[in-house]
Amino acid sequence: MKKDFVTMFDLKKNEISEIFELAKTLKESQKKGVEHRILKDKTLAMVFEKPSLRTRVTFETGMTQLGGHAIYLAPSDIQLGKRETVPDAAKNLSRWVDIVMARVFAHKTVDDLAKSSSIPVINGLSDLEHPCQIMADLFTVFEKKGPLDGLTIAYVGDGNNVCNSFVAASILLGFSLRIATPAGYEPEKTYTEKAANTVLSIDPIEAVADADIVYTDVWASMGQEKEAAERKKVFKKFQLNTDLLKHAKKDHLVMHCLPAHRGEEITDEIIDGPHSIVFDEAENRLHVQKGIMVWLSQQH
Ligand code: CP
Ligand code: NVA
Repeated sequence: MKKDFVTMFDLKKNEISEIFELAKTLKESQKKGVEHRILKDKTLAMVFEKPSLRTRVTFETGMTQLGGHAIYLAPSDIQLGKRETVPDAAKNLSRWVDIVMARVFAHKTVDDLAKSSSIPVINGLSDLEHPCQIMADLFTVFEKKGPLDGLTIAYVGDGNNVCNSFVAASILLGFSLRIATPAGYEPEKTYTEKAANTVLSIDPIEAVADADIVYTDVWASMGQEKEAAERKKVFKKFQLNTDLLKHAKKDHLVMHCLPAHRGEEITDEIIDGPHSIVFDEAENRLHVQKGIMVWLSQQH
């Protein structure tokens, strides 16, 4: 049976470890200039309903480095569900290409794509989840700090798609997560209900106290542009700045999935400061997604 990566819950703990092992090897090969054309002549279709820098470039570059090819399908190209139904698009793509990656608004769209495809489908971000991001982030934490057990990880800001995938990962891997959001902006309830190691709070200082990792994301995600002004007011206290990060451990690390809205959820001095590893995270999108594509191609 083909496997998809539509939500973090598509992976088991040991499968996450297998992908991290692959990513580590692929990263070393890439750094040493060792050829690794494991997906030679394979094609990835990249379907985008929303804009992207990292996801587009890392998937396309990753596929090239693996010896394959990637096709970028812009929002105006496919028009999923408008020009033809999602299942029809899925059935067509399954006849031509080997993997599909889709960035969508409604999570149901990528879910339906996966259900109607005979090839692996990867979620490159939906309104519900951003699982590739969290895979790259956890790989980065592991590189910098070693095993996640015993680390205190704090997420401050909007309980959005990135936060939901973080909660899902904490359920699968068992690490503890402290999440501070304004009331009404918590992550998906059906996820947090299952998350024994997640503590929700409305106090950023409480979440960040003695944390090893402090993570944030934009206050208004793609598709929420109209709410941006209102959200700026609601989230004011949730900014990663010098005052807030004084409460974290001395050797804490700061993470952000990017793109950042500097001066809103994070200040320049924090994102450009010595604790920031945001560009290491961005780099690891490449290596970890190569691991995800290779791993999915090996499942039958
Ligand atoms: N972090 C991330 O997914 O970035 P893009 O929106 O630029 O792809
Ligand atoms: N939460 C953000 C993540 C961007 C990578 C968004 O959905 O726009």
